Amino acid sequence: MATRLDSEYQDLKRRVHQFLVERLDEEGIDVGRAARASLQAFVQTNISAFISQNRVPLSAQDMILLTRESFDEVVGFGPLEPLLADDSVNDILVNGPESVFIEVAGVLQKAHTRFIDDDHVVRVIRRILAPLGRRLDESSPMVDARLPDGSRVNAVIPPVALDGPSLSIRKFARKHLGAQDLVNSGSISASCLQILTSLVTTRRNILVSGGTGTGKTTILNMLSQFIPADERVVTIEDAAELQLNHPHIVRLETRPANLEGTGQVTARDLVINTLRMRPDRIILGEVRSGEILELLQAMNTGHEGSMSTIHSNSARDALVRIETLLAVNGYDAGERAIARLIGSSLDVIVQLVRLPGGRRLVSEVVALKATADDPYRMEYLYQVHR
Ligand SMILES: Nc1ncnc2c1ncn2[C@@H]1O[C@H](COP(=O)(O)OP(=O)(O)O)[C@@H](O)[C@H]1O
Ligand SMILES: [Mg+2]
Repeated sequence: MATRLDSEYQDLKRRVHQFLVERLDEEGIDVGRAARASLQAFVQTNISAFISQNRVPLSAQDMILLTRESFDEVVGFGPLEPLLADDSVNDILVNGPESVFIEVAGVLQKAHTRFIDDDHVVRVIRRILAPLGRRLDESSPMVDARLPDGSRVNAVIPPVALDGPSLSIRKFARKHLGAQDLVNSGSISASCLQILTSLVTTRRNILVSGGTGTGKTTILNMLSQFIPADERVVTIEDAAELQLNHPHIVRLETRPANLEGTGQVTARDLVINTLRMRPDRIILGEVRSGEILELLQAMNTGHEGSMSTIHSNSARDALVRIETLLAVNGYDAGERAIARLIGSSLDVIVQLVRLPGGRRLVSEVVALKATADDPYRMEYLYQVHR
């Protein structure tokens, strides 16, 4: 049932919520512990009471809507609930109370929903963070978190966010698209898939490159399925997303600093540690920072067949990005030495693009060949003609 966006209804919702919170408090009900069914009954009874006491004219249909939405407010994440429950929604982006966008099948669109006001957005953000012991206030206005279902959340509030609290949710993909799905949907040609499969089995070091949401993690996951079962794999991620169907796997996850500002475990820490774990291959979810150095060194020293992804719009840009990451993270070597390190460790860049209609595509597969005068001469193994 579609919600009502008008301010009259929103105002009613706000008053009802306040009333319910007071009533719960009076009854000493702990929402976290109470049974769902009894909470449902409690919400229903009290809304009926509120509506009749205040003589609010409300259609039967709006009454059902108000009850459902108020229940979502009390026990869940309010307006986010229907979007979280909808499997066709991949991303939820809240730019402010009245500006909620969703991504469905690769297309960004305005969602038919809203929050009441800024406070409402902040209330939902705090509810997400509460069980995690993470704080969000003027002194730490940005936070990363994860929902119980594995979805990744980022929240930014003023003063950093200029137009009010903002929330970005990348929903946890319950099931990644497999090789056959990607071929069927035209994201990868059968011949390209064959090339990639043999690159994996012959232990090439592969970097998947693309913009946000182009399907990097999806492709990384798909490629990992072709790792032979007798090899030992260690995965390193900021938020466990990969679902490798592999018998010999150790999964590691980075950890942000706690409230006291300690206890942080970076991807770099984990790559270094992984080298002591005797892996055959390292799968790093995404290269973002200094861990690139250890990854390249690992690729060069007995861990061939390692893979990662990088945020970049072309194979060329990916190389520039790596050079920059090395330079700003203290790899103090000349331009030539940097290029040589990259050229000797990285074998292949798989470039992804997202077309205007939302379709994702493996657009290029580029092999890097180190020659005497060019540390990484690019050789196209595959290229889509568009
Ligand atoms: N080839 C594809 N076709 C359709 N949807 C895809 C494709 N690749 C990825 N997706 C979907 O797009 C969203 C982002 O994919 P993901 O692999 O996480 O991208 P990235 O890692 O580049 O940010 C996910 O919901 C995923 O299921
Ligand atoms: Mg990703």
